[in-house]
Amino acid sequence: MEAVLTRDEAVARPERAVPRKIEARVNSITSLAEDVNAFEFVRADGSALPAFTAGSHIDVHLPGGTIRQYSLCNPATERHHYVVAVLRDTAGRGGSVAMHDMLRAGQTVTISVPRNHFGLSADAARHVFIAGGIGITPIMAMIHDVQRRGEAFHLFYCARAPQRTAFLDVLQPLIDAGDVSMHFDGGDPCNRLDLARTLAQYAPGTHLYYCGPSGLMDAIETASAHWPEGTRHCERFSAAGAPAHTAEDRADQRPDTPFEVELRRSRQTFTVQPGESIADVLRGHGVDVDMSCCEGYCGTCMTRYLEGEPLHRDTVLDADDREEFVMICCARSKSPTLVLDI
Ligand code: FES
Repeated sequence: MEAVLTRDEAVARPERAVPRKIEARVNSITSLAEDVNAFEFVRADGSALPAFTAGSHIDVHLPGGTIRQYSLCNPATERHHYVVAVLRDTAGRGGSVAMHDMLRAGQTVTISVPRNHFGLSADAARHVFIAGGIGITPIMAMIHDVQRRGEAFHLFYCARAPQRTAFLDVLQPLIDAGDVSMHFDGGDPCNRLDLARTLAQYAPGTHLYYCGPSGLMDAIETASAHWPEGTRHCERFSAAGAPAHTAEDRADQRPDTPFEVELRRSRQTFTVQPGESIADVLRGHGVDVDMSCCEGYCGTCMTRYLEGEPLHRDTVLDADDREEFVMICCARSKSPTLVLDI
């Protein structure tokens, strides 16, 4: 049950879907490495799942109401299942521990339609990937895609030790072929990948994709600062290290003022006061709004707007997205009224 995507469908434009929910079933849970499990979701009614592109993630609605985002690691040509790999992180916010400790095969769970803010570039002549630990998950789907299309790539995969490294067996042929370099540091910073050296030379046509712990992400960002605009792509599932706002947003230092938020479809209008978020106000009036990070980096609350000028304060939407969507957990409005497609 596979759908073959054209190159354009696969890489050109990430899904712009506002989150929609799918009733799914946990079909299997498989150990990939120490503290890392793969969770396979199928549609509860057995039908095909919506298509996705490499780099996409889904929301998983966990027992107790928590919503967390996990990247899909299976090939984007597959429609019969979604697979995510999750590290059980006891220092995290509890989502990964709940995934490991509460989800069981056969259980029904709500997930979202995949969203992609970390797509492959259609213009790249060569792709360079850097993955840190469980940050490998979206990159596995990307590697499937570039391999299928015969495009040049190299993966630098940084991890602590082989027994804690997911997908090592799957990647072994690529390691043997020289397309993947493993970097085990054993917890010693001196053994880490030399990012400054690795990223010093920019070769025209190369695009860089990276995902991993925030310290690694920050170091990559610094080491590749001289790369041309638009050639670096990353995804963070934590606010740590992420720029709070874009440069444009930072330049806009106006104090928060009240504004009206109009829900066009349900014909309701509410006032958002300084210090309140749009999402809080909507929830306070009984409007069903999905939220997860509440800080503008996960994409769960993405909402289409129809009129008005948002003051964006997220770290997810690009310039094209911002013409159409707004993150209602953190955005405000420059215009007196912001009209949402709700
Ligand atoms: S809830 Fe995460 S971006 Fe709004």
